[in-house]
Amino acid sequence: MPSVLLLGATGLVGAHLAADIKRSRPDWPLTAFYRNQSADEYFSRVYVDRIVHGSFSDTDLVKSLSKEHDIVINAASSFDADLINLIISGMEERPSTSPKGTLIHLSGTGNFIDYGTTGNFNPESKVWNDDNEEDIKLINKDMFNGATDVPVLEAGQRGKIATYIICLAVTSGQSAFGPTAQLGVGYNIFVGLAKGLGFVPYVGDGTGVVSTVHVQDAVPFITKIVGVAGTQEPQGSAYSRYYIVHGERFAWKDFSGALAKVLYTKGLVSSPEPKKISMDEAGVGEVKHLIAANMLVKGDHAARMGFKPVQPSMLVSMQKDIGEHVF
Ligand SMILES: NC(=O)c1ccc[n+]([C@@H]2O[C@H](COP(=O)([O-])OP(=O)(O)OC[C@H]3O[C@@H](n4cnc5c(N)ncnc54)[C@H](OP(=O)(O)O)[C@@H]3O)[C@@H](O)[C@H]2O)c1
Repeated sequence: MPSVLLLGATGLVGAHLAADIKRSRPDWPLTAFYRNQSADEYFSRVYVDRIVHGSFSDTDLVKSLSKEHDIVINAASSFDADLINLIISGMEERPSTSPKGTLIHLSGTGNFIDYGTTGNFNPESKVWNDDNEEDIKLINKDMFNGATDVPVLEAGQRGKIATYIICLAVTSGQSAFGPTAQLGVGYNIFVGLAKGLGFVPYVGDGTGVVSTVHVQDAVPFITKIVGVAGTQEPQGSAYSRYYIVHGERFAWKDFSGALAKVLYTKGLVSSPEPKKISMDEAGVGEVKHLIAANMLVKGDHAARMGFKPVQPSMLVSMQKDIGEHVF
């Protein structure tokens, strides 16, 4: 039975994933790594076999755990290059007598925005497709998640470890821990922007598009890839083992409208209506690029592997996900 290490176990994706892996592969020993000790009861309840408390600053521990396990899942960060390089260096030190390690890395479709600045839909923009290896070869370190995707793809091509990348669209859904837990990276970005501005923004006419997925659609697919990684030899190149998972795609203005409504009910913004601004008024940093741009992706390969979104639209889910969240 392959042993599995889950990093980021207490996150929006990680907590659902731990439970789903144990449901689907009850005999595979699963180690959950996290720092929040109040989560112990949850992980015992979902039959995680081993709990290791620690932070990513415990570099020797992260490296030795990565070396020890047959499958390592990074559900913690798609931005932290030091972390991913540490994981890879540990995995590549596995003795030749052990089975080759497999890294399953979660990334994000922020990689594939067109860097438009008007906020308007651009029918000429590139649609990135996981079925086209040439698209995946274009991923570079300047992209939103490029600092981690590139070393993972390079390690996969070196071949000392096998790699799979599952690239998530902006993710909705509620934490498995209930309303006081993580909202997840996507919600944190957009709620944080709105709280900072005091209102929910959109840029231009707001027809630029965002791609979304529900955590309960994404997680069974990640579990499926864990199963593939533990039972089959890796097929093709590292670029072909890159899966884009997305459900609904809608205009930023609709996203902002739904977000404004729920954040207003929580007393976090001054109006239930979103406000039109220019990209420069959205502040500094990378986030303003997201809301001004188009995020056009297709997951034909993931769909062939069985990914099928069935959960409610993020426009609906958001009212519950954020509405019931305790800030
Ligand atoms: N949610 C989205 O919209 C979205 C979209 C695209 C891609 N992704 C990617 O998918 C992955 C999972 O996302 P998510 O939304 O589930 O993330 P999340 O809810 O923010 O969870 C992050 C996890 O990483 C852990 N972590 C962070 N820093 C740590 C440290 N220094 N030491 C130990 N643990 C640490 C957190 O632990 P604590 O609980 O202790 O903080 C938490 O378990 C990420 O790589 C993310 O970029 C997410």
